[in-house]
Amino acid sequence: MSDTGSLLTSLDCRSCCAQVDPSHAVGTCPACGHALLATYDLAKLTRDDWKHDLHHRGASLWRYRELLPVQRTEDIVTLGEGFSPILPLGEVREAPGVRLLLKDDGGLPTGSFKARGMSVAVSRAKELGIRTVFVPSAGNAGMALSAYGSRAGLAVRVYLPERTPAPMKEGCRAYGAEVVEVPGTLREAGAAARAAEARSGSFDMSTLREPYRVEGKKTMGLEIFEQSADDDFPSAIVYPTGGGTGLIGMYKAFQELRALGFLERIPRLYSVQPEGCAPVVRALRDGAASVTPWADPHTVAPGLLVPSPFASERILEAVRESRGGGVTVRDRAMVEAMEMLARRHGISASPEGAATYAALSSLVRDGAIRSGETVLLYNTGSGLPFSIPELERSLSPGESTDVPSEPRADRD
Ligand SMILES: Cc1ncc(COP(=O)(O)O)c(C=O)c1O
Ligand SMILES: [Zn+2]
Repeated sequence: MSDTGSLLTSLDCRSCCAQVDPSHAVGTCPACGHALLATYDLAKLTRDDWKHDLHHRGASLWRYRELLPVQRTEDIVTLGEGFSPILPLGEVREAPGVRLLLKDDGGLPTGSFKARGMSVAVSRAKELGIRTVFVPSAGNAGMALSAYGSRAGLAVRVYLPERTPAPMKEGCRAYGAEVVEVPGTLREAGAAARAAEARSGSFDMSTLREPYRVEGKKTMGLEIFEQSADDDFPSAIVYPTGGGTGLIGMYKAFQELRALGFLERIPRLYSVQPEGCAPVVRALRDGAASVTPWADPHTVAPGLLVPSPFASERILEAVRESRGGGVTVRDRAMVEAMEMLARRHGISASPEGAATYAALSSLVRDGAIRSGETVLLYNTGSGLPFSIPELERSLSPGESTDVPSEPRADRD
């Protein structure tokens, strides 16, 4: 029996239309192996009553519990995640006439938006009786799983690429997780994890191979809607894409809000990827239905080093159906943008989050974003685990940066 009011009804595969009973632990679609997404009985929610109820709820993502999968309040594993601020950046030189906003998830528990997904997925794992979990991660997902897993009393194993920033490796260990370091990218970490865990009986919490992390990510879209006044609701959202859960989650949120009668117009979603690993942007450009793996991936942004995202069909759908697009940025521009956000706006952004700022000039030049619009950049994580001088040193020779030690006078 649900005492959270969750309206979860089933898990659905959009690739083969299979429907799965959500009352037991399941990963991917048993029929075709693609991602499963949660379906809710939205007809049971009356728009105005819900709006009224929300006024009386706390500022965490659990305020949206009807649209989340957890059934029992006692199973909610929370560290106070969600309801991050939307900060106005005003008008900047890179985007003349655009009203720029930045939603900052850098202050969430464990320092990134990954807290949203892991809070919901770990709560659900606890509810379904799972005892041991594992995840391949670029760092942030591992940190979040380690923290929420510790709070839920689960055993956690995290598979990290060897080059993951040391504070993230140490962070996972500090929360009591077992850390396995793997040479290569997230792809190699994923393969090593699945091979090692095949007969261990532990549960795979990888991006979109588990159906509930994306439900937590969905709250990014729910919050953007709820936190915006009518004339402030962004017409476009610029988001850094690795595994794609953020884009898929936000698009799902906007679809649910539209079905509930809250929303007519879904913001255009723009996917930002580094030049050295841009499988989603390339597939958008080529009109492909899914991505082909990116050969020789490289970037300084660990969360964007995903050469072959698992649920690429859903990512491409979200971008195309929202009438958004894709854009690449150079690593050097990302590092410059980190510095700019810190020095000009007081915002500590991860390289991934800063990539959205770095993408602005191309988006404006291509006519994707126009003067008069309200545009939201999503900072997915804190810059604190990163050293800007170290990032500069790791740029490939053609990318060596000339970021000045003082902010440039000609920039906003
Ligand atoms: C800080 C940060 N931003 C963005 C991403 C990409 O996430 P996704 O595309 O799954 O939303 C990651 C993933 O590791 C990350 O750590
Ligand atoms: Zn299927």
